[in-house]
Amino acid sequence: MSVPKRLVVGLSGASGMPYALDLLQTLRRVGGLEVHLVMSQGAKRVLAEEAGLSLEAVEALAHVVHRSSDLGAPIASGSFRTLGMVIVPCSATTLAKVAYGLADNLLTRAAYVTLKERRPLVLVPREAPLPLPSLEAMVKATLAGATILPAAPGFYHKPQTIEDLLAFMTQRILDLLGLEYSRAPRWGELQELELD
Ligand SMILES: Cc1cc2nc3c(=O)[nH]c(=O)nc-3n(C[C@H](O)[C@H](O)[C@H](O)COP(=O)(O)O)c2cc1C
Repeated sequence: MSVPKRLVVGLSGASGMPYALDLLQTLRRVGGLEVHLVMSQGAKRVLAEEAGLSLEAVEALAHVVHRSSDLGAPIASGSFRTLGMVIVPCSATTLAKVAYGLADNLLTRAAYVTLKERRPLVLVPREAPLPLPSLEAMVKATLAGATILPAAPGFYHKPQTIEDLLAFMTQRILDLLGLEYSRAPRWGELQELELD
């Protein structure tokens, strides 16, 4: 029996919910993927402030939705095979927990499991400026195997809209997770387009 290609998408309580929505909407188009969503209580609070979408609408973008209090969910175990996990946006609190192995809710437990199984873990932190505890947590998480991808889109692809900025971040997340999908032009491709 073939195992479905599962991806864990975690949302925590940092600003930047549009990044998460763009990723979830894109993942619907990637195809062949089973998206497991887990949101912290903080994520739900921030979503209500900034995304312009209801919680139900966001959850409808995932194939499986897990409660952050459900530490018995499949994604809490390494025996449940996944391609990896992304936390977008990643709050300073969740970043610190991941860095130090604190698995006190399903979001942080799933991240802990992803690290212990040596699967790709992409963290998209959004905080500014960054105090020493967060900088140290980034180093710790990197040493543990995570990839820190700051929510800081580039401008070399000449974005015209907010969607262009979101697409940049989504493309980097997909690439880091090894998912084949073209959401935004890459640097070399951009030059080829301009030469045409
Ligand atoms: C509207 C709003 C915006 C926030 N923005 C950020 C942020 O950009 N980065 C961050 O690290 N925390 C931010 N916070 C604080 C976190 O939500 C808070 O520290 C929370 O405890 C994080 O918990 P969680 O990681 O379990 O979601 C924000 C909170 C609110 C209500």
